[in-house]
Amino acid sequence: MQLPCSQQLTSELIWLDETQSTNTAMRELVADHADQANRTVIATDNQSAGRGRLGREWVAPAGKTLAFSVLLRKREHALPASWLPLIAGSAVRRGLARLLLEADASDVALGVKWPNDVLARTLGQARDEGSGRKVSGILTEMLGDGSVIVGVGINLTLSKAELPTDTATSLGLLAADANTEIDVVLSAVLTELFALLEALAAGEVEYVRDTVTSDSSTLGTQVRAHMPNGQIIEGRAVRLADDGALVIEVGADGSQQVVAAGDIEHLR
Ligand code: BTN
Repeated sequence: MQLPCSQQLTSELIWLDETQSTNTAMRELVADHADQANRTVIATDNQSAGRGRLGREWVAPAGKTLAFSVLLRKREHALPASWLPLIAGSAVRRGLARLLLEADASDVALGVKWPNDVLARTLGQARDEGSGRKVSGILTEMLGDGSVIVGVGINLTLSKAELPTDTATSLGLLAADANTEIDVVLSAVLTELFALLEALAAGEVEYVRDTVTSDSSTLGTQVRAHMPNGQIIEGRAVRLADDGALVIEVGADGSQQVVAAGDIEHLR
């Protein structure tokens, strides 16, 4: 597939007609090429065994979703690497928001559910339908040498019947006029991701933190956190800690708990 816009943004862009997982393909590439360039991208629209957060699978019918992985080789920033998943979430939110704006879909609001699910709400959507439907998921993985693979899955043209869960959506369902071409969507997200990384490289740490904070639909809401060990924490998500973890105010006395990994449920 020809991807002229995306090609311009990366050091190397590899299109695969089919792969099990672009994150796995990137791992294999790096294992074979120790000097593989920073910001290499592997992309496909046919991923047969996509991996999700917390050991889950990412289900994507062939030809209807975009899956890509970006290799970040060097630390371009002063923030801990634990911020990269959050930064990736902001980048996807911003890239998709631009496409929705261009399609005049001003009734759709995108937000990032901590750490990095991109959810869409349409104005007028019933409150009891929850905090939104998932249009994109992100899996970041760190390699032994400190490099990070940012893996992004975006639902592009799935119909309602094709959605993997009843809490998912696709760009095409959100706005019939949205441009869902692979090159357009990929380049929109890469532009935002690299802009945030360049801001960090330029020392604009506060700007990046503020961007991630303002893109979050979790902060300021009542949440239930499902921890990997089965523990449940309920309270108000109040801020991001220095390492990007979610700080939840759990008691009327202002006592707080910090969630570094887990699933967040938005309560209201
Ligand atoms: C999640 O929502 O749990 C994260 C889903 C991440 C899916 C993307 S698709 C590209 C990359 N390759 C994978 O195997 N997973 C990520």
